[in-house]
Order: sequence, then C-alpha cells, then structure tokens
Amino acid sequence: MNRKKEICSCYHVTKGDIADAVENGAECFKDVKKATKVGKACGKCKKKAKKLTKKLLMKK
Ligand code: FES
Repeated sequence: MNRKKEICSCYHVTKGDIADAVENGAECFKDVKKATKVGKACGKCKKKAKKLTKKLLMKK
C-alpha cells in the first residue's frame, strides 16, 4: 500500500491516515471519518475510503 496516496483531496487524507485511524481503534467507516475528516466535504472520496476501511478492518 502506498501510504502517501491521497484518497480525499478536500481534506488531504491519505491511505496512511486511514490505516492509522484503523490502527488507533476505528471500528467502522464512521470512526475513520471522525478521526480523519475523510468524506466530510464534497463526498466524492467516500466510496474509495469506505472500501479501503473495509479492507483494513478485515486484516485487523
Ligand atoms: S474528496 Fe473527500 S470530501 Fe471531497
């Protein structure tokens, strides 16, 4: 995984930020959203961010 890859251009949230949120206890996309702000503006990154969150949670 390229941790530097930006998922959310509104809040500049990267894959690494999402991975960190999951690592730090996020249990669902809502938690990730709270921790990183991902998807809180235009919402176009939501689908990608949700998919990545799901993938990371499965590996937990
Ligand atoms: S790209 Fe994530 S809220 Fe706009």
